[in-house]
Amino acid sequence: MSLSASPTPRNPRFPASTTFGHHVRVISEDGIVLRTRDGVDELIVNGVFAMDSTEVSSELALADAALPAARVLVGGLGLGYTAARLLDGGAELVRVVELSAELVDAARRGATAQLGRLAADPRVELVTGDIADAIEGSWDAILLDVDNGPTFLIHDHNARLYRAEFLRRCLAALAPSGRLVVWCESASADLAATLSELAGSVETILVPVTRGQRHFEYVLYRTYS
Ligand SMILES: C[S@@+](CC[C@H](N)C(=O)[O-])C[C@H]1O[C@@H](n2cnc3c(N)ncnc32)[C@H](O)[C@@H]1O
Repeated sequence: MSLSASPTPRNPRFPASTTFGHHVRVISEDGIVLRTRDGVDELIVNGVFAMDSTEVSSELALADAALPAARVLVGGLGLGYTAARLLDGGAELVRVVELSAELVDAARRGATAQLGRLAADPRVELVTGDIADAIEGSWDAILLDVDNGPTFLIHDHNARLYRAEFLRRCLAALAPSGRLVVWCESASADLAATLSELAGSVETILVPVTRGQRHFEYVLYRTYS
């Protein structure tokens, strides 16, 4: 069975037991598959196609929604595009909190050029852990790209990341005029309402994405401290 015969970004569920071909670079026990085929890096999380390197405009837009920012906390390493964009945009410190220890290890071993670059950059702190337990300090921006959003979770335990208690902690960890930006695969009226209630207002940034014949519109929610 071909894993990615026609993957829909961050959507279709593939059986975790799928056997992969010789292109696989990393298969972790914590449900991460990181592989490169024909020069394209792919990431599968918990059996769900998360992203690949052919279309990363929403990952870049997430960083752009935070910039300019000197100190940024990022939930979710993935293939590292958001963090790399932050560095390119002048960030001085980017702390990336990633659930998968094996993905962090793969980054440190330079499993892809992008991840290796991040791991080697002195402005980057790669931390293994759950972002839910890592909200501390004072940040110019906090970016959350750890799951598909509240409408379609890859990890059930991440539901709490879209609820008021956690989002309130994020807002409290922002410096004055700091930004909290949340990536979602589709609009969530509940999340928008929660953020608006907590922060007074919320901006919705739509990111149109085309993959072959398919068109998507990812959603970023941005609030200010
Ligand atoms: C879609 S990827 C992030 C993509 C990233 N923005 C990029 O530019 O490549 C989501 C990442 O979040 C991680 N993750 C999932 N739940 C998490 C959590 N609760 N805390 C930290 N990382 C988490 C996944 O293992 C995965 O690496």
